[in-house]
Amino acid sequence: MARKKIIAGNWKMNMTPSEAVELVNTLKPLVATEDADVVFCVPAIDIIPAMEAAKGSNIEIGAENMYFEEKGAYTGEISPSMLTDVGVKYVVLGHSERREYFAETSETVNKKMLKAFEHGITPIMCCGETLEQREQGVTMDFIRQQVKVGFLNVTAAQAATSVIAYEPIWAIGTGKTATTEQAQEVCKAIRECIAEIYDDATAAAVRIQYGGSVNAATAPELFVQPDIDGGLVGGAALKPDFGKIVNWK
Ligand code: 13P
Repeated sequence: MARKKIIAGNWKMNMTPSEAVELVNTLKPLVATEDADVVFCVPAIDIIPAMEAAKGSNIEIGAENMYFEEKGAYTGEISPSMLTDVGVKYVVLGHSERREYFAETSETVNKKMLKAFEHGITPIMCCGETLEQREQGVTMDFIRQQVKVGFLNVTAAQAATSVIAYEPIWAIGTGKTATTEQAQEVCKAIRECIAEIYDDATAAAVRIQYGGSVNAATAPELFVQPDIDGGLVGGAALKPDFGKIVNWK
């Protein structure tokens, strides 16, 4: 069965709750499609108002992070049940910005992955190399490690429902999209890594996104690649351009 595309916006630390409502209302008619799953991953405080605004549309509202404990003395964190209680079905885990600025590691990402599955939330697990790693030729070793640790103890059935976002760090927010060949090459290798950990059926089911300066001009050639099942979009997800990315065909 062909994989359905999944095109997600990662709003990062942008949009106040009232701005979020405005943006959802603006984008709602522009991102209408049946060809792809459309997800807006928004700051925690925007989740409820964004969901209200998205009601009746095809937009799913997701979170940008989540903690791996159920509840308790973890000041400032958001638990899985807090997300599911309001109907969140997707969560971005292990974004490179969280790894870089907030001490997220593949081990903590793995704990969060397991928790997400336990609560029926689909993780969008991010991986990607730095420019130095690419130049040193260790891109695939590094990403395979991120994927293998991220999926430790995740079952094949769970893995099959997951989303992996390949986001080369040097392409994030830089206007420098990876070439289509580079993006396809790594996404294919990630799928092969999933086949090694599990089996071919799981690898064929998992959805792999590309992220890093995706825009309306680059989306079509990226999304047509055999191993690229959509995108995780930062800057361009905050603009009407996101409608063109979602309706890339
Ligand atoms: P940009 O699209 O702004 O480069 O951000 C990509 C990203 O980090 C999405 O998670």
